Amino acid sequence: MAVEINMAGKVVLITGGSMGIGKACVLEFAAAGANVAFTYRKHEAEAKAIAEEASQAGVKVLPLKADVADHERSAEVVEETIFELGGLDFLINNAGMNWDGVIWKMSEEQWDRVIEVDLKGCFNFLRAATPTMREEGGGSIVNITSINGLRGKFGQSNYTAAKGGVIALTKTVARELGRNDINVNAIAPGLIETEMVSEAPDSVKERALGEIVLGRLGQPAEVARVALFLCSPLARHVTGQVLNVDGGQLI
Ligand SMILES: NC(=O)c1ccc[n+]([C@@H]2O[C@H](COP(=O)([O-])OP(=O)(O)OC[C@H]3O[C@@H](n4cnc5c(N)ncnc54)[C@H](OP(=O)(O)O)[C@@H]3O)[C@@H](O)[C@H]2O)c1
Repeated sequence: MAVEINMAGKVVLITGGSMGIGKACVLEFAAAGANVAFTYRKHEAEAKAIAEEASQAGVKVLPLKADVADHERSAEVVEETIFELGGLDFLINNAGMNWDGVIWKMSEEQWDRVIEVDLKGCFNFLRAATPTMREEGGGSIVNITSINGLRGKFGQSNYTAAKGGVIALTKTVARELGRNDINVNAIAPGLIETEMVSEAPDSVKERALGEIVLGRLGQPAEVARVALFLCSPLARHVTGQVLNVDGGQLI
């Protein structure tokens, strides 16, 4: 029997929806019938085009400009989402960046910026969204981490510290929100074919391909569909987990 996920009437807020995995989340949740708010920072034209494409599914789509590192702006984004779309059922903390360098060459700015976007950005949206989600009596949160937050990665001390922090944050917040019927999980992608990865050297992709037992890079939609599953009634008894979507890269 085919299982179809129907999110009609639900509201999801996705950070970093203008490219890659976040864009795929916008399109998958809209296709499942959810009204979608999403943030972008630099790619305004792309965000508008994605909003147009996603709204073809007959749902409301609200693109909002925000730097996830900005605490006050994050709170405004949550308020605007609730005001415009009438509530908040799901939060997908996806926005992220990397700025690589070995530890003995990493600048303070490089360290601070990646922690501020990848870790504090999650905190900002969790802090802003959870009061309403608790009042509304349920929902789901998905934080996008990385398999490198589990195993470490040469040249990525800032990124892996942030992503490891996201995993610990996920487990703590899952404990704190369980009684409010809010499940909180993390997805750890392996190498996924997105804009972030297109800038990586070929040697990085070749090494990853050697590790991935399914023998190919993942696609953004393959991560987005797992996020959709974790927010669906199918996953109500799953919380505090890290789900690797990596084609077996970390086995
Ligand atoms: N691709 C992979 O292989 C992979 C693997 C493991 C984990 N991940 C994680 O998956 C998530 C998405 O990655 P991706 O590959 O889809 O990245 P991407 O293609 O580079 O897209 C990143 C998205 O995040 C947004 N963003 C970046 N910095 C932001 C900021 N300060 N404030 C607000 N938005 C910001 C970007 O918006 P603008 O472009 O509009 O600024 C864009 O929409 C990230 O958390 C990443 O760490 C990716």
